[in-house]
Amino acid sequence: MSDAKAEPLADPVRQLVAEAWTFRRQVELDAELRFTRLAGQLAQLGAPEALVSLAGRAAEDERRHAGMCELLARAYGRVDMPPAPLAAEEVAPAGMALRERVLYEVVAACCITETESTAVLTTLLVPEGAPRVRAVLRDILRDEVAHSRLGWAWLSHEHGAGTVSFLSRHVPSMLEGTASPRLFAPGAPEEESPALLKHGVLPHTRKRETFVRALRDVVFPGLERFGVDTAPARAWVERRSAAGA
Ligand SMILES: [Fe+2]
Ligand SMILES: [Fe+2]
Repeated sequence: MSDAKAEPLADPVRQLVAEAWTFRRQVELDAELRFTRLAGQLAQLGAPEALVSLAGRAAEDERRHAGMCELLARAYGRVDMPPAPLAAEEVAPAGMALRERVLYEVVAACCITETESTAVLTTLLVPEGAPRVRAVLRDILRDEVAHSRLGWAWLSHEHGAGTVSFLSRHVPSMLEGTASPRLFAPGAPEEESPALLKHGVLPHTRKRETFVRALRDVVFPGLERFGVDTAPARAWVERRSAAGA
């Protein structure tokens, strides 16, 4: 890729970039399967047609994102792609009724994960970024904003239909599922390299700061608007931050 070659990257950094885009491809493929399932479940629950088709479109978007991530991963030297996931793991605890299970998954996948993704992509869109990387980031960002809105729209719908306060005690597990296990631990020196930023990867400390800021500025206030108490989630952030420091 001309952008990647224009400025030679130290090998460990290039490898991290290739790994990050490969990992994103897997996440996008997983999201495609999840949105496909959610579109069917939302229809089953009698969701407004606009939301069902938004979920269907989201699945298509994710497949396209996966393709763009794969191209970038290869441009940075990745040769073999891991096998595509066959099914998206159910995130809600076993035994929940369909309506609660879908709300749980939509909040985890859209209100939390897609909002986090939007924050990361926005932070990554630095003017000095490689042009091809910026084009992909912009394209993905536009869609992820819509995917996040789908979550808030369904939460609002369900809030109008009854109580959604049961979510409160589950938000820490949702966060646990979204944050990488190493997010709050110190990163290796190459993971802190400022060179990563131009190639679409946040240095480790930036990644953690972006994650926590998006929770405090967007996700928590959003949940509170619908009467979801965020005290357990805020305590989770404090606990994980203290443990990682
Ligand atoms: Fe995506
Ligand atoms: Fe998405």
